[in-house]
Amino acid sequence: MKYDFDKIVNRKHTNAMKVDGWRNYLFPNNPDIKIDYNNDDLVKMWIADMDFETAPEIIEDLHQRVDHGIFGYTKIFDSDYYQVFNEWCARNYDIVYDKKWITTSPGIVPAITNLISIITKPDEKVVICTPSYAPFANATKLNNRELVCVPLIKGEKRMEMDFNKLTEIFKDEKVKLFIFCNPYNPNGIKWNEKEITKLGELIKENDMWIISDEIHCDLYRKGINHNPSIHFIKDYKKLIVCHSVSKTFNLAGALISHIIIQDEEVKNKFELTKPGNENIFSLVACQSAYSNGQRWVNELRAYLDENFKYLKEFLDNNLPLTNFEIPDATYLAWVDFSAYVPKDVDLTQWFLQECGILLESGSQFVANGEGYVRLNLACPKAILEKTMNRIYQKLK
Ligand SMILES: Cc1ncc(COP(=O)(O)O)c(C=O)c1O
Repeated sequence: MKYDFDKIVNRKHTNAMKVDGWRNYLFPNNPDIKIDYNNDDLVKMWIADMDFETAPEIIEDLHQRVDHGIFGYTKIFDSDYYQVFNEWCARNYDIVYDKKWITTSPGIVPAITNLISIITKPDEKVVICTPSYAPFANATKLNNRELVCVPLIKGEKRMEMDFNKLTEIFKDEKVKLFIFCNPYNPNGIKWNEKEITKLGELIKENDMWIISDEIHCDLYRKGINHNPSIHFIKDYKKLIVCHSVSKTFNLAGALISHIIIQDEEVKNKFELTKPGNENIFSLVACQSAYSNGQRWVNELRAYLDENFKYLKEFLDNNLPLTNFEIPDATYLAWVDFSAYVPKDVDLTQWFLQECGILLESGSQFVANGEGYVRLNLACPKAILEKTMNRIYQKLK
C-alpha cells in the first residue's frame, strides 16, 4: 500500500464534530450527561466522517493554492472542473452528466432542504424508507411538508423496499417526492437493477420527483460496483442526483457537493436560492480529489474491507447472538445488539456510559432501528480493535 491508513491522527482542537461536538448533537436534551471517561479516552465511532487524513495529493494541491496568496470571489469558470468530475463518473460508474445539469451546493443536506421547498408545495408530502438517515426527515419537517415513512421489509437475503406499500402510497396525489438513498444509509445496501427500475417506473407512473442521494457511491466493498439511479431511471427530468467528495475523501468540512438537476427551471431556482458563491479551497480540493484521488480511494476501499472482515469475525466468534452482515457499501456497520443489551434504554447513552464508546443507535434513524447501533469503521484498525474489546468486556 502506498498510503498509511493505520496512522492515528489527533483531532483535538480542530473543531471536529466527532471529538468536540458530540454532546449537543447526540444528547441535545442532556448535553451535560455524566460519564466516567474523560473526553480523550472515549472511542469515537459515531458521525460519518473518517479518522484518516485525506489523500496527500489533495493536501499538496491545497498548499499550492494557499501559496498563491489571493483568495477573492470565486466561481467555476474552468471547464476542466466539470471534465474531471465527469471523468471520475465515467470511470467509476459509467456515466457522463450533461455539464449544464451540474451545480454545486455546500452540502447534500442543504441541497435537499432547498429542493423540497422548490419542487413541492406546502400541502404536499415527501416519502422516505426507514430506518433512514435522519436529516431527510428533518429537511422535510423544516419545510413543513408531511413526511410519509415506509419501513424496509425483510427480504430473502437482506432488507428490501416494500413495493406494495410504495405503490399504494405513491397513488396519493399529494405525494410528490421520494428521497432515495442509493446506496443505503444506515445499512449499506446496494440496490439492484430490478429494484431501481421498478422504483423508477412507479415514480414515472405517478409523475413524482425523486432525489437520489448517492453520497456513499464510491465506497462499495471491493468488486461491487455502484448502480447509478440515472442508468435505470432514464430520460426523466424529475430525477435529481446528489454526489459528493465529502464521504469518499473525508472532505465533509470543505462543504461542497454536486447536484445534478436536469430540469432547467428547477436548476435556475436552486442556483438563485443558493447561499453565496463557491469556496476557493473546496473547489481546489474537489478538483484534485477527482483528478488525483483514484488510487487513494482504491486503497481506502481495501482497508475498509479488512476492517469489516475483522468486525464480522469478531462478532461471530465472541458475540454470536449479534446480527450483522458486511454491507455492500459505506464505511458504516449496522449491528443488531438486541440479544445483549437491556431493552427500553437509549443505546447511544448506554454504550457511552457503560463502554466509553460514542456511536449512533437505531433510534437516531427515524424509525425501525430498535436494538441496532451504527459503528463507523473508517478508522485505523487499532481503534476498531479497542472498540470491540471494550464492548466485549462489557457484554461477554
Ligand atoms: C445519506 C447521506 N446523505 C447526506 C449526508 C451528508 O451530506 P452533506 O454533509 O453533504 O450535507 C450523509 C452524511 O452522513 C449521508 O449519510
